[in-house]
Parts: sequence; C-alpha cells; structure tokens
Amino acid sequence: MTSTPVIKKARLNSAFKQLMSVHWVMAACYLVLFITGSGMARLSRGTPFRSELYDFHKSIGALVVGLLTWRILVLLRVWWRKYTKNLPKFTPDWTRKFALHTFLYIFMFAVPVSGFFFSNSYKSNNVKLFGLTLPDLFPQNSGLVDLGRNIHFWIAYTFLALIILHTLQQWKVVKANWRRLQGFLQKK
Ligand code: HEM
Ligand code: HEM
Repeated sequence: MTSTPVIKKARLNSAFKQLMSVHWVMAACYLVLFITGSGMARLSRGTPFRSELYDFHKSIGALVVGLLTWRILVLLRVWWRKYTKNLPKFTPDWTRKFALHTFLYIFMFAVPVSGFFFSNSYKSNNVKLFGLTLPDLFPQNSGLVDLGRNIHFWIAYTFLALIILHTLQQWKVVKANWRRLQGFLQKK
C-alpha cells in the first residue's frame, strides 16, 4: 500500500510524532506489566520482595492510565489536523486497522480497570502510585476477589493477543523504517 503525500505529511506533523513517542513509552510499560504480572502471580506467599513486586506492578498499571489520558488528547489533535482537511478513504485495509486500534484502546482502558476491581475488592486503599495511596474505584468485597482475578487474567491475555496481532500488522512498517534508517546511516 502506498501513502498519498497528504498522509505522509500528516504522519510527519509534530502531533503524530508526539503520539508515537507516547506509543513507545506505553509499549515499554506494557512489556514490564506483562513480565511482572505473570511472574508475581506464580510466586508463593512469603517469597522475598513479592509484595514490593505487586506494588510496582500496580504503580506502573496506574501510571499507564495517566499516559492513556494524555495519549487520547494527542490522538484527538492528530485526527483534527488530518481529517478536517481530508476525510479518510474507507478502504478495507483502513477499516481493519481502525477496528484493531479501537479494540486496543478499549483494552488499554479495561485491563487496568479490571486490576483496580481485583485489588480494591481484596482490600481498600490497596493501590499505590509509587507510595501515594490512590482512591478506591470499587468497594471492598471479598466475595468478588476470585471473579476479579479471573477477569484481570482473561482481559490481560486477550489484550496480549491483540498486541501480537497488531505487531504482525505493523511489521511491514517497522521493516521499511529499519531499511530507511540503514540507508541513511550508510550515506553518512
Ligand atoms: C505494546 C503494546 C502496543 C499497543 C497497545 C499499541 C497500540 C497502537 C495503537 C492504538 C496505534 C495507533 C496510533 C495510536 O493511537 O497510538 C499504534 C500505532 C502503531 N504501532 Fe503500536 N502498539 C503496541 C506495540 C507495538 C509494537 C510492538 C510495534 C512494532 C512492531 C508497533 C508498531 C506500531 C506502528 C508502526 C504504528 C503506526 C501505525 C500508523 O502509522 O498508523 N506497536 N499502536
Ligand atoms: C495495562 C495494565 C495491566 C496489565 C497489562 C496487567 C497484566 C497482568 C498480568 C498478565 C497478570 C498475570 C495474570 C496471571 O498470569 O495470573 C497480572 C496480575 C496482576 N495484576 Fe495486573 N496488569 C495491569 C494493570 C494492573 C493494575 C492497574 C492493577 C491494580 C491496581 C493490577 C493488579 C494485578 C494483581 C494484583 C495481579 C496478581 C494476580 C494474582 O495474584 O493472581 N494490574 N496483571
């Protein structure tokens, strides 16, 4: 698929660059969240640093919610600049990409919320952002802890499946950029 000059221009505008910067910072946070989450869930009680690992996972989880708010504001700026000039061409390729990105946003919101549901149901005042106690979003309810754990598990791994799909979809773009960077470095 070849990009039109208008799209190329829109991609190079500063709002799009900002969007991609937040994208990579958040991608790094998700990597940390998946590694810490799947690791800590398998540690037995009494393992040294287990509770610190839980606190760290929850802090990064809360941090990505803040970053998501920032990202949505930047995305709105990108759309405003891009689509007030030219409406998108509703090709099947565009629709597929748009649908996947929409699902990714839904999961970027739903996964941390399910984490709050799980942690708040277990104990109130249980989520801290690097030491700062965050208000509860859900009431404490020991009867819902197992449901919370299951929901967080399934939503998190469905999100991971979507990320893998997205990475495969974007692989061509990444390869093209890599080749462009190599060409640029060779010229120097
Ligand atoms: C780790 C979790 C990831 C999430 C949640 C995610 C999500 C998204 C979303 C929603 C967009 C649309 C632009 C935006 O609103 O930011 C996007 C764009 C993009 N993503 Fe990811 N992404 C992730 C990881 C990756 C990875 C690992 C790659 C590398 C292969 C990648 C490559 C790209 C590229 C190249 C674009 C730009 C697409 C375009 O030009 O329209 N992403 N990503
Ligand atoms: C996008 C953000 C997040 C991602 C991708 C994520 C991902 C994960 C993953 C993959 C697991 C391991 C599940 C398992 O294998 O059993 C996990 C566990 C856990 N997560 Fe998250 N998480 C996120 C945000 C949060 C937040 C915001 C909280 C709390 C406020 C939280 C609390 C927990 C807890 C307490 C566990 C341990 C589950 C157990 O002991 O069985 N997570 N998370």
